[in-house]
Amino acid sequence: MSWIRETELRLIERLTANILKAGPMPKHVAFIMDGNRRYAQKKHVERKEGHTQGFDKLAETLRWCLNLGIHEVTVYAFSIENFKRSREEVDGLIELARQKFSRLLTEKENLEKHGVCIRVLGDLTLLPEDLQQLIAKAVVSTRAHNKCFLNVCFAYTSRHEIANAVKEMAWGVEQGLIKSSDVSEGLLSQCLYSSNSPNPDLLIRTSGEVRLSDFLLWQTSYSCLVFQSILWPEYSFWNLCDAILQYQLSSQSLQKARDLHKEDQVLQQMEADRTCVTELLHHHGNGKPMDAQSQETMLLNYIASREERVRCFLNALQHKRDTFINDLSSQAVIA
Ligand code: FPP
Ligand code: MG
Repeated sequence: MSWIRETELRLIERLTANILKAGPMPKHVAFIMDGNRRYAQKKHVERKEGHTQGFDKLAETLRWCLNLGIHEVTVYAFSIENFKRSREEVDGLIELARQKFSRLLTEKENLEKHGVCIRVLGDLTLLPEDLQQLIAKAVVSTRAHNKCFLNVCFAYTSRHEIANAVKEMAWGVEQGLIKSSDVSEGLLSQCLYSSNSPNPDLLIRTSGEVRLSDFLLWQTSYSCLVFQSILWPEYSFWNLCDAILQYQLSSQSLQKARDLHKEDQVLQQMEADRTCVTELLHHHGNGKPMDAQSQETMLLNYIASREERVRCFLNALQHKRDTFINDLSSQAVIA
């Protein structure tokens, strides 16, 4: 099956979609697509078939999301923890990914028509080289599209992502691009694999498990979390509507919490900038007291130079990441 299923909603589904759309809609939805193996067991088919049907359900869900006006979706397709599964199952999941990313490269026109940009979030170096190359080609071939975004978390865990972001900031300090005092919650967010996306509004986990399993821990602090008992390959349009309804019921309080957090971050940054300027005055001042206006000018200059440093660092980081993907993408796929 292709990455986006080409079917229209039925009349009753269209009516429901329109009713839901009268309320606040999530712009970005994340899925932990859990329950493929239990589904396989229930249907007496091989595990591999459970995962294949899991992919087909993803293609169907993407179509529903587009019909509901949800233009960003993030899915947990392969966790770093999944490497600990049996050799046979890991090989099967890697082979499924090979097939689907190869297929994606033949579907460029369809993805262009829908304006789908596919991003892969994770540590690609943990994957076989041919899959790294296929993924890079898929990412490069859709990166100019901007109508909707599918973020596929592959060889991903949140802790690995956060640790990697910390390493990137340490690299920035080592290279003299930023100062250690520039490290902040906001900067860490911009060093995550997900830096080009807004945080998910809604996170859905299927199969009845009530935990996040190291998925988007940083990004979902203010998201509506919905746990549904249905197994992923059996997920339906109605399950999605139910989750959206739960989001709508909590969206006001979530928005308030987000606004408060944003205000808090601004205040924290202001405090950090004032502390840095006070230290500078202490170390480099000539002992004479400075009037309030000069102190304010010094603070403004400090903020401008910090912002410029951070901008250059983030450009360098983006360049490093682009070079990695471009180099992989230009290599012939070695099977
Ligand atoms: C969790 O169910 C699912 C996975 C570990 C794999 C999910 C992958 C897909 C749906 C295919 C996506 C592929 C691409 C290329 C995007 P489980 O195996 O944990 O099942 P269980 O909870 O019943 O044991
Ligand atoms: Mg599971």
